[in-house]
Amino acid sequence: METLLINNISEIKKSIKDWKKLNCSIGLVPTMGALHKGHASLIKKAKEMCDKVVVSIFVNPIQFGPNEDYDKYPRTIEKDKNLCEDIGVDIIFAPTPKEMYGENITLSNTELSFVCPPYNIVDCMCGKSRPGHFDGVATVVTKLFNIVEPNYAFFGQKDAQQLFIIKKFVKDLNINVEIIPCPIIRDYDGLAMSSRNTYLSEDERKRALTISQALKKIKSLYSNGITNANILFDTGISILDKNIELDYLEFRDFNTFEKVDKVKENTLVAIAAKVGKTRLIDNEIL
Ligand code: PAF
Repeated sequence: METLLINNISEIKKSIKDWKKLNCSIGLVPTMGALHKGHASLIKKAKEMCDKVVVSIFVNPIQFGPNEDYDKYPRTIEKDKNLCEDIGVDIIFAPTPKEMYGENITLSNTELSFVCPPYNIVDCMCGKSRPGHFDGVATVVTKLFNIVEPNYAFFGQKDAQQLFIIKKFVKDLNINVEIIPCPIIRDYDGLAMSSRNTYLSEDERKRALTISQALKKIKSLYSNGITNANILFDTGISILDKNIELDYLEFRDFNTFEKVDKVKENTLVAIAAKVGKTRLIDNEIL
């Protein structure tokens, strides 16, 4: 089946209108491209649940800080198109930054209307070290929802804070879409799939593996009855490679995002760390 590649908003809106007339359910998988097995699992889930599937591919400039990897973020549209075609995606929506935002495409743009999730869930974890990041994510995801009008939208649990924030603004703003969280997909060695893994040298990849190993160890200690977050934290730290730069290792209630001292069912344990220049995140839900 041929996947249609559409770059402009008015054109995709025409297809959406036709699908709506036929009462088709629509699934949206928002991505920044460089698609891997993790994305493939989201797309497959969308295919199972929906009559029509749109994958958006857009490296969103307004969610990158000035010193982040916007320019070098992998762009592999031909490969992405093949993957989408294999799974049976109906449309890839791949707009240019200009199509999405006009001429002013920076995070500090004061002329653009932003969707700004509440401070308490943004000014922690990834949002703390990436100021403005989640405003950029919430804004682009809202635009994609307004353009594609999906019944369902699929997001990976690897970006746990992003998922929480998206669910929150969808509820707060009464956006008519159901958010479907999808489990983390890991590579053969346990590393969580990420488009940024392509930045890692062989040696960095070995060091990066200690992130998923630390999470696994914490999970197994918890299964053996240890619930004290300080003890679990110390164990996690002892497993992480000494040459990686830890940003955070935190325990939070997955439903409220409050920090927890005593770990219980549905506690999110999340790690962010820089391996060389590459920032990686991973988590487990206990
Ligand atoms: O998770 C991502 O790839 C991005 O943050 C998203 C949701 C596609 C928004 O640009």
